[in-house]
Amino acid sequence: MRLKMRRAVITVLGGCFLLVTLFLSGSKWSSCTDVNRLDNNFYRDGAPHPDGSKLTRLSTQAVDLTKNSIPYEELDCVINGEYTVGCRREGDDVYLPFSFISKYFEVYGKLVQNGDDTRFEWSHSYSHVYVPDGTYSPTGIFMSFEHYNVEKRDRVKCISAIEGVPISTQWGAHGYYYPIQIAQYGLSHFSKFLTEKPRSSIVIEDAEDDRAADQWAVVGQRGTVSSVIDRHRNTHVIEFDTSDSIHNPGIVHQLENIIFGFLFFDIRFENNGSVTVAMEMKGRPNRLFYLHYICSENVLAVSEDNVYYGIGLRRTWGRVTRDLMVDAQKGIMMQLGKKFRGSRLVPLRVISVSVRGHGWIDNITFASSAHLEQMYDAADWFVRHQDNKGGWPIMVTRKLALGRLELPPGWYSAMAQGQAISLLVRAYDRTKIRAYLDCALRATKIYNIPSSEGGVRAMFADKYPWYEEYPTVPSSFVLNGFIYSLIGLYDLKTVAPPEEARDTESLYSTGISSLKALLPLFDTGSGSVYDLRHFTLAMSPNLARWDYHTTHINQLLLLSTIEDDPVFEAVANRWIGYMKGKRAAHN
Ligand SMILES: *[C@@H]1O[C@H](CO)[C@@H](O)[C@H](O)[C@H]1NC(C)=O
Ligand SMILES: *[C@@H]1O[C@H](CO)[C@@H](O)[C@H](O)[C@H]1NC(C)=O
Repeated sequence: MRLKMRRAVITVLGGCFLLVTLFLSGSKWSSCTDVNRLDNNFYRDGAPHPDGSKLTRLSTQAVDLTKNSIPYEELDCVINGEYTVGCRREGDDVYLPFSFISKYFEVYGKLVQNGDDTRFEWSHSYSHVYVPDGTYSPTGIFMSFEHYNVEKRDRVKCISAIEGVPISTQWGAHGYYYPIQIAQYGLSHFSKFLTEKPRSSIVIEDAEDDRAADQWAVVGQRGTVSSVIDRHRNTHVIEFDTSDSIHNPGIVHQLENIIFGFLFFDIRFENNGSVTVAMEMKGRPNRLFYLHYICSENVLAVSEDNVYYGIGLRRTWGRVTRDLMVDAQKGIMMQLGKKFRGSRLVPLRVISVSVRGHGWIDNITFASSAHLEQMYDAADWFVRHQDNKGGWPIMVTRKLALGRLELPPGWYSAMAQGQAISLLVRAYDRTKIRAYLDCALRATKIYNIPSSEGGVRAMFADKYPWYEEYPTVPSSFVLNGFIYSLIGLYDLKTVAPPEEARDTESLYSTGISSLKALLPLFDTGSGSVYDLRHFTLAMSPNLARWDYHTTHINQLLLLSTIEDDPVFEAVANRWIGYMKGKRAAHN
């Protein structure tokens, strides 16, 4: 970053002497006429803001300086009587280094080259508000989740090939299933499905052709391969039978020109076996890289150029959907740890698919994406793993508020319940499979159980029920998790038959009333707070960083499209102002 900026400065300034000094100092400068003004009203609503024209002076002024040799003078600037920063004075103006300003006020700025013109761009925050372009729909895009890339995050260990969902390492290095992450994985893929252009795909094996088996070659140890009719699925499939040893090259289907990074297939094994994908990586022409999907309950193992994903036992038909790029990268990351740089090994093309053991395979397909499959993998996980209370217990210790609050493994989260419901409702809407709807309806039960009894329901001032993302005692009242829990209820009450959604409806309207009553407590006048720990624990306020502040805004904007009360839009707009440095007026 710094390097780039320096280079930009050189380009603009050429080789002049004065500016070489400026360049050597490595700082960028911004003008502020007098420090008092900055303190008093520079940032307040309606007051003058540091606008583009003023900041552009950085570069143009700098050029003028050299041309006309306008003199400037070095000057000490004493900050609140506490320490000194080197400044420059030019006539009546004083310039502070932007490196100081950016830290002091937590603002962001960079030199931006636009043709021959360079300017300095200042921003008060770093994140982006997605203004909804219509009324929110419980069966449509979820918030702006089409921009999420859950599986690429470092805190995702890998996508389990047993469950088809991410495994988190966020609060437990060994890895665990985190329902919020799984729901977000499903919702982001569903949203991408709705926003991206249709995918391309190629079926390399559906066993329908008489000569289908001829495409497979028995390599290494002895084996047989043939196209047969499967009595369970009543369709042609490939049957293979050879040693299940991982050292057996197996029965191989060579491929050409496969450039798609997603693979899915239907598989069943008699006893044990594996499916291997051999790939060429960018920049390594003569060395292959192998992804092995093996009958094992071990999620992930690696050795050199081999990555092993367990797919469970697979004694009955089931589909395996894999993002080969993510599988390769997570394997390499496991091997190299922090040394790994995401772009270092990029799969270039698939060379072959091979099988081992005795089993049956069908519908081997490569595709440019697999969003719906990934979304259903996540939705199915929620159906399979819901407990008898209707929840998905989180099996990891969660510490909050500098360790003053702690949730031992087995806690529920209203945010997990809510986002799971949002996902299940969408799966139900597309398939009309009752199991998704029933699962979503059962998930609302936990909303009624108080945090003190292992549920998620908190009470503010004995009056306002609140569904807790982290159901600690005392409560923390996390805002974004609460709103996600409400969005889930809204989705469900809208899509479920009215007679089945009465509870959901009442949980939702109670929650919305609490939100309207308590929303002002989250407003600091220049940003928002993440939770109410300053009230419940008498700690200093937990200010929301810009990411979360933006999430708050996006959520309020969503609510403003489904709720009549103008309060949501009004607060959202005020909070958007905070992102541009506006503040509430003072007395
Ligand atoms: C199947 O074979 C693999 C490789 O030989 C082995 O690691 C795995 O434990 C076996 N799984 C079962 C279920 O026997
Ligand atoms: C392969 O796909 C076809 C078409 O979707 C389906 O009818 C068939 O059951 C699938 N094969 C297996 C073994 O599931």
